[in-house]
Amino acid sequence: MKVTIKVNGNQVAAEVADRTLLVHFVREVAGLTATNVGCDSTSCGACTVLLDGKSVKSCTVLAAQADGSEVTTVEGLADGSGELHPVQAAFHAEHGLQCGFCTPGMVMASVSLLAENPSPTEDEVRTALEGNLCRCTGYHNIVRAVLAAAPATRERRPA
Ligand code: FES
Ligand code: FES
Repeated sequence: MKVTIKVNGNQVAAEVADRTLLVHFVREVAGLTATNVGCDSTSCGACTVLLDGKSVKSCTVLAAQADGSEVTTVEGLADGSGELHPVQAAFHAEHGLQCGFCTPGMVMASVSLLAENPSPTEDEVRTALEGNLCRCTGYHNIVRAVLAAAPATRERRPA
């Protein structure tokens, strides 16, 4: 079947098998390999992207379900000048990563959280990221990064 998805602002159209997952469309058709696959059970969150602005685990969505939608991956966050999104900058500044495998999904889940809740508490951050697993950091610096990113993210919101 033919599927057309706007990925990071670019229309990507391809003939894919009906069972093609969105994460495979993103990685193999759009060629954007930062979005990772860490499990086959919807449990790790490494594949998190934004689908029409909301975070989804892209291993649980068929590419066909996203036909006609907009997807944002971590590659699409930085602006055209290469300046990092505040969440990316905060993960860097607060050392919110070690091996980095979970990081694209963590960042996208955090962007989604801050879009819905611009001033989260620490508990709200921890709850929002429950579906994203990290085997390295112990989560403390990730939570610190999200809290640190909140003011700059609020400033970027449309009035
Ligand atoms: S790869 Fe999607 S949740 Fe683990
Ligand atoms: S930084 Fe290694 S899994 Fe999170």
